[in-house]
Amino acid sequence: MTDVHELVAQRYSVRAYKPDPVAEEDLEQIVQDACLAPTAANRQPFQLIVIHTGGHTEELRRIYDRGWFVQAPIVICACAVLGESWVRSDGKNYADVDVAIVMDHLILSATNCGLGTCWIGAFDRDAACEVLGLPDGVEPIAFTPLGYAADEPRPKRRKPVSELVRYERW
Ligand SMILES: Cc1cc2nc3c(=O)[nH]c(=O)nc-3n(C[C@H](O)[C@H](O)[C@H](O)COP(=O)(O)O)c2cc1C
Repeated sequence: MTDVHELVAQRYSVRAYKPDPVAEEDLEQIVQDACLAPTAANRQPFQLIVIHTGGHTEELRRIYDRGWFVQAPIVICACAVLGESWVRSDGKNYADVDVAIVMDHLILSATNCGLGTCWIGAFDRDAACEVLGLPDGVEPIAFTPLGYAADEPRPKRRKPVSELVRYERW
């Protein structure tokens, strides 16, 4: 068990994976942690699709055409279930926010298990819907591979905190 500050610092976008399998108990823990994520009005308007990549390289590369995407033994797709999400009175739909929190929980839990991940938003949405057989109203939001890293973390490049945080002193 790692301190949450260490986890946040350790996580990075892994773009090379070993083929080594992910233990079933790690996968179960990771999806359980993801499903504990808070969502607006506790609606839980999401579905996680766990895909074992073995033998499915061709279909998966239709979704995101990078060799490293299919190197890991598992790819996970986080989807929004649009009809179930909370909508604010001014019409703002919180489905994407909810799915992002779920994915962040999943990714930090994976990091805690020593596993690598990478947020993928630049996928082909229509290919994802077709390959995964998603019904209308189930919208793929993000993918991540899940597996052991075969690359090394790079130093984090971020804007200075002072540029990103404003302390309002009323
Ligand atoms: C919503 C979102 C979508 C992203 N989509 C992609 C993507 O399609 N392909 C990719 O290689 N990285 C993608 N990334 C990873 C970012 O490029 C990466 O998180 C950022 O450069 C910071 O690097 P780090 O994750 O190593 O700290 C995405 C990240 C987020 C949060």
